[in-house]
Amino acid sequence: MKEKIYKLINQLYFEHDLMEEDLVYLLDNLEDETRTYLLGLAYDTRNNHYGKAVYMRGLIEFTNYCKRECKYCGINAYNKDAKRYRMSKKDILSTCSIGYKLGFRTFVLQGGEDPYFTDKRICDIVRTVKERFSDVAVTLSLGERSRESYKVMKMAGADRFLLRHETSNPDLYRWLHPFSSLDSRIECLHSLKYTGFQTGAGFMVGLPWYTNRDYARDLRFLKELEPEMIGIGPFIPHSSTSMKDYRPGSLDQTVLMLAILRLLLPKVLLPATTALASVDTRGRKKGLDAGANVIMPNLTPLRYRGDYSLYNNKKSTGSESAEALKMIKQELESYGYMADMSRGDSKMCD
Ligand code: 5AD
Repeated sequence: MKEKIYKLINQLYFEHDLMEEDLVYLLDNLEDETRTYLLGLAYDTRNNHYGKAVYMRGLIEFTNYCKRECKYCGINAYNKDAKRYRMSKKDILSTCSIGYKLGFRTFVLQGGEDPYFTDKRICDIVRTVKERFSDVAVTLSLGERSRESYKVMKMAGADRFLLRHETSNPDLYRWLHPFSSLDSRIECLHSLKYTGFQTGAGFMVGLPWYTNRDYARDLRFLKELEPEMIGIGPFIPHSSTSMKDYRPGSLDQTVLMLAILRLLLPKVLLPATTALASVDTRGRKKGLDAGANVIMPNLTPLRYRGDYSLYNNKKSTGSESAEALKMIKQELESYGYMADMSRGDSKMCD
């Protein structure tokens, strides 16, 4: 049996592919030794394509208003305890300015699905950011919109868009989001790709009732979608949601998923996410060692930061000041990596 596992891992490494049945078999039968082998190959693969560089993205959480019903998320529309905020255009621009001076060349504008931010307002913000800071990439992460909306945002100058698929299991998707469907989510992802965005998808690890079959399907889904970026992190319960008593996803399972994704899509941009850093103090290092190559330090002004609470005990890797950024850089160096402040486009675009 061990021989078969090694064979499957080698196939992942050399061919960057594995069919669903084989992925299930692999996940069902990994042991310490074979797992270590797989993680090592993921580490090598990241090094071959990206070396020890870790791309830095300045995250700006610009609104926590949200009309959506996502059961797991602390800023869902039903959470009356959430203290809501919305940054003004001026606020967003001055945050970008701070980030730019610190050296960031990618800004990720992330928010809930906030109807205040119409296409027109978003486009205006994107256009102004791109005018003022001509050499930055703008990434948007603001949920589901029409193909037409994505198109005008792209035309306004946005470069990338993050929209996790959350889970590829349609029944669980419906349970987590009672008023929407996996199909419409996937349609959005196709629209984003079609529109020419560098697109990010991804899922949460450790959702209730998840099986290895589900993970294998998420992995296959991503392999076939071929996004430029993949965000995955453990599910972490939020005390003001109906999922407060569900168990969180584990560090090890998340790290394993990162490693397999690195092997399936060798050039993908793969963040060691905040959620991963939040479940365990070694989370970020373990993620990087398993093939991740991006981190997203938080630029959100401190007065808002606590209110962008998607899950409890969210780690705040702030970079609001040169001092805070220096600490992150030092942390990376202590693990043997180097912060890379450039735009950091996906090598899939080369
Ligand atoms: N635990 C982990 N991740 C979460 N997200 C939202 N709520 C949670 C939670 N409770 C993730 C979703 C979303 C991204 C912005 O944050 O995957 O797409």
